[in-house]
Amino acid sequence: GYLGAIQVFSLYEPVFVPVNLNAGGMDTAAFESAVSGYDTKLFYGIPNSQNPSGITYSVACRKICAEILKGTNTIIVEDDAYGELHFSGKSLPPIKKYLPDQTILTGSFSKIIAPGMRLGWVCAPRQIMDQLIIAKQASDLHSNYLSQRIASRYLEEADLDVHIGKIRAAYHEQAHAMIDAMQDNLPASVSWSQPEGGMFVWVTLPVGCPAVDVFTEALKKQVAVLPGLPFYVDGGGTDTLRLNFSNATPARITEGVERLSKVIQSFNR
Ligand SMILES: Cc1ncc(COP(=O)(O)O)c(C=O)c1O
Repeated sequence: GYLGAIQVFSLYEPVFVPVNLNAGGMDTAAFESAVSGYDTKLFYGIPNSQNPSGITYSVACRKICAEILKGTNTIIVEDDAYGELHFSGKSLPPIKKYLPDQTILTGSFSKIIAPGMRLGWVCAPRQIMDQLIIAKQASDLHSNYLSQRIASRYLEEADLDVHIGKIRAAYHEQAHAMIDAMQDNLPASVSWSQPEGGMFVWVTLPVGCPAVDVFTEALKKQVAVLPGLPFYVDGGGTDTLRLNFSNATPARITEGVERLSKVIQSFNR
């Protein structure tokens, strides 16, 4: 899961019950058994280009998730930070479509305008929204007013759809550059996801190649990668890395992957 969300939820000292993802989204059988064993307060998921794995839930997965939670006391927090960044330009229906009264859908301007503004939006049932407004006021009075004015002016004067089209095309090209360089350089013992959107490639390292050590060595070669550990609530992921392709040109991505490959191979001897 997204480490920022894990940090936020941790403040409330919950019992986290992680559910694995597979190529089509959540493992729905595991999800059903996880929620049936608990009086689950909240389910948090990122159905579009999940951070960190890049996985998008299939329509079937979304429907099953809604069916499983229908009529329970569980609230869904559906985090759609990356929905606009699917390379195809198409979007799948949100889980909220299938279970509107139990779902809080959230989005962000961080990925489509600028992360520094830290502005987003919430779409929630009225009753929940009333409570959210009080809780938000208690936590920060209100979102930064200057940022809101800047975003508002940008939305009035710029063509957001054109801008999103540009970043989507750029990220698609950068993702390709990363995948091509990985295919050309990384040993067969390393595996990775095939991103269809978002900003990340998720890498699984071979045995004997700890992600934290790869992180340390790669930094010495001026390549920044993120070890997977903080994205797990159960101490897993020690053999995983998250690579970001949104922040560098294709040429720099290729160079970075070549350097990373040498680091990984140095552990693999
Ligand atoms: C899944 C996900 N949700 C939310 C955020 C943060 O959004 P915001 O900047 O609007 O807080 C991020 C990344 O920063 C993210 O990856």
